[in-house]
Amino acid sequence: MLENDLAGLQAGTLKRIAAAALPADLEAIRVEVLGRKGTLAAVSKDMGKIASEERARIGKLLNEAKNSLEAALAARQDQFAATALAERLESEWVDLTLPAPGIRPGNLHPLTRLQQEIEDLFRSLGFTILDGFEVEDEYHNFDALNIPADHPARDMQDTFWLEGGKLLRTHTSPVQVRGMETLPLPLRMIAPGRVFRNESVDASHEHTFYQLEGMMIDRNVSVGNLIYFMKTLLGEVFGREVTVRLRPGFFPFVEPGFELDIQCLICGGSGCAVCKQSGWVELLPCGLVNPKVLEKSGIDPTEWGGFAFGLGLTRLVMMRYGIADIRLLMSGDLRFLAPAAGVAA
Ligand code: DAH
Repeated sequence: MLENDLAGLQAGTLKRIAAAALPADLEAIRVEVLGRKGTLAAVSKDMGKIASEERARIGKLLNEAKNSLEAALAARQDQFAATALAERLESEWVDLTLPAPGIRPGNLHPLTRLQQEIEDLFRSLGFTILDGFEVEDEYHNFDALNIPADHPARDMQDTFWLEGGKLLRTHTSPVQVRGMETLPLPLRMIAPGRVFRNESVDASHEHTFYQLEGMMIDRNVSVGNLIYFMKTLLGEVFGREVTVRLRPGFFPFVEPGFELDIQCLICGGSGCAVCKQSGWVELLPCGLVNPKVLEKSGIDPTEWGGFAFGLGLTRLVMMRYGIADIRLLMSGDLRFLAPAAGVAA
């Protein structure tokens, strides 16, 4: 009788082990059947009631049952472990033979690069670099620069007016005024920055572009000083002879005023969209500071004089790098930020 019970228990438990879905199920079976208070232990206890000649045989069967169940538990446990490992290998699989993604070093935008070069040059010449405000007031953008209310530069076509009489600065010249208001004399300053014009956009016009303003105020400043600094600037930027011409130019804040043009480097002077077919590009308007402008900022024009210039930084970048369409500069095209050809990635 006991023998049959034992065989039934063994067969049933083996089935349960084979069907176990989780490692925890195996543990439960082990405790229930093989544990100290388990089913087999209960059977062992009953051994005393068995006739002694039977005892050895049943004891052997008991041992065999115990061994076979332990072996089955261990084997099923191994199966679980192997499955878990296989799943992990599958999910964490990495192909180490794939090429690594390329590391792409960035680069400064041509505008930034040129701006920094010019800043370095002027810093070495004793100039201070000022920032200014992109949102300006009418006084600094116009009045203080001797631009009367009826001047075309004030036309609604050109200026982005904001609420409360503020505006987006149309040039970097208001930073001259801020420089005169804050720096001690004699002063030398430059101010690179973004400017805004309410213009229709084409190959040579943008509503947002960059200028670099410069101003020097000292005793006995002459056109000779102005030309010296302008030549130094262009020599540094182009590193070679460029053909320039100086013409009279009218700006209310300088007297005399000049237009310094360079021969168009996109077409070599034969005429293209960038130079509006003229062969020349207005690059560096400049002049001697109008005494009225000095006076408005509280500087005595009988003692002090100065020159000022308003470099078209965006145009200069186009000339230096041969960029034929101004719209490309702010297009977000990442090739502007890519390393130069031949530089290892
Ligand atoms: N502010 C002028 C403009 O945007 C450019 C300019 C002309 C600046 C003559 C100057 C200057 O400092 O002297 O059109």
